[in-house]
Amino acid sequence: MQTLMRAAVIDATGRPDVLRIANVPLPEPAAGEVLIRVACAGVNPADWKCREGYLGQFMHYSFPFVIGFDVSGVVAAVGEGVTAWIPGQRVFAQTDVGAGKWGSYAEYVAVGQESVVAIPDSLGYAEAAAVPTPALAAWAGLFDEGGLKPGQTVLVHGGGGAVGTFAIQLAHAAGARVAATCSASRCDELKSLGCQMPIDYRGGAIANAVHDWAAGGVDLVLDAVGCGTLPNGLDLLKPGGILVAIMTLVSADSGPDAAEAARRGKRTALAYSRMPSGTRLREISALLATGKVRPPRIECLPLEDAALALGLVQSGKAPAKLVLQVGSPAEGEAWAQRRIHGVA
Ligand SMILES: NC(=O)c1ccc[n+]([C@@H]2O[C@H](COP(=O)([O-])OP(=O)(O)OC[C@H]3O[C@@H](n4cnc5c(N)ncnc54)[C@H](OP(=O)(O)O)[C@@H]3O)[C@@H](O)[C@H]2O)c1
Repeated sequence: MQTLMRAAVIDATGRPDVLRIANVPLPEPAAGEVLIRVACAGVNPADWKCREGYLGQFMHYSFPFVIGFDVSGVVAAVGEGVTAWIPGQRVFAQTDVGAGKWGSYAEYVAVGQESVVAIPDSLGYAEAAAVPTPALAAWAGLFDEGGLKPGQTVLVHGGGGAVGTFAIQLAHAAGARVAATCSASRCDELKSLGCQMPIDYRGGAIANAVHDWAAGGVDLVLDAVGCGTLPNGLDLLKPGGILVAIMTLVSADSGPDAAEAARRGKRTALAYSRMPSGTRLREISALLATGKVRPPRIECLPLEDAALALGLVQSGKAPAKLVLQVGSPAEGEAWAQRRIHGVA
């Protein structure tokens, strides 16, 4: 008889009502995969975009489909050839959902071993689930594409979001000087993360504030909002500077104008969290362990509220970074023990 698990699934792409809670077959870890008993699933903007079908640009969906990019939990079982992980270990990961595999809005998820990383002792499951996708995207934008160096200046557009708060901290930890756009109410919080110059994006004076802070422009603008919200991004760069846009996955978002940038002696790039992501996530995990980087403020909801959570993120009304509580980690550890002893 097939073992079933509880999951938030979609049977088609589209509006919020395509998401439902259902019992679906529990995945078996294939060779090279780790089966994780999910404690928490991070909620990302990419999840509602996945529900709406935007990921169809990159992969084929087959239904029912379990969404969810980020996971924390306990190793429940491993596939053939996996030697680095044993059942019972606390882990977090970016799932392979962007490659068409089932994601983390479920009691179990199978993830390629190259993406799985041990959770630092200082982090709980909910905090760990809030990390992978936004932190990996921030890293890709700052360092892989932006080539950020110590002493350089960076403007993080969207410093109040999950990608933005990681970008501020990672840039600060790397010895860069950081300015960021955010809501007026977030300015003090962003200063506490290492942002020297928070700029209220509704105040209409981003360019003046940036040029007062970094005469001649900044080395790097990291746009973590997109969709035309920073139309004068190239004006904020010094000659030779680079504007890196985090890919929003929305097909109508054409991204920065590379030809115009080249004409003005500046550069542009697109960044996204690359898979498999374990090597990068381990570096981020080391910074989390030292406290140099911390997860964003989080609010937890039960898995049953997945549709509500996606709606809040899509409308921009989420009160904090949202995390779905899926299973009790203690349950997961006990389950792993039963598997080890051949009971389950
Ligand atoms: N391609 C990839 O690999 C990848 C990975 C991660 C994220 N992304 C994309 O990156 C974007 C951000 O993701 P996220 O997780 O950071 O989202 P998020 O946590 O929901 O943050 C969104 C933030 O955007 C800020 N914002 C909204 N309008 C703004 C404006 N006009 N100017 C400045 N800030 C504005 C808000 O800041 P306040 O709270 O200060 O108002 C809000 O907190 C999304 O489009 C997401 O899909 C892509």
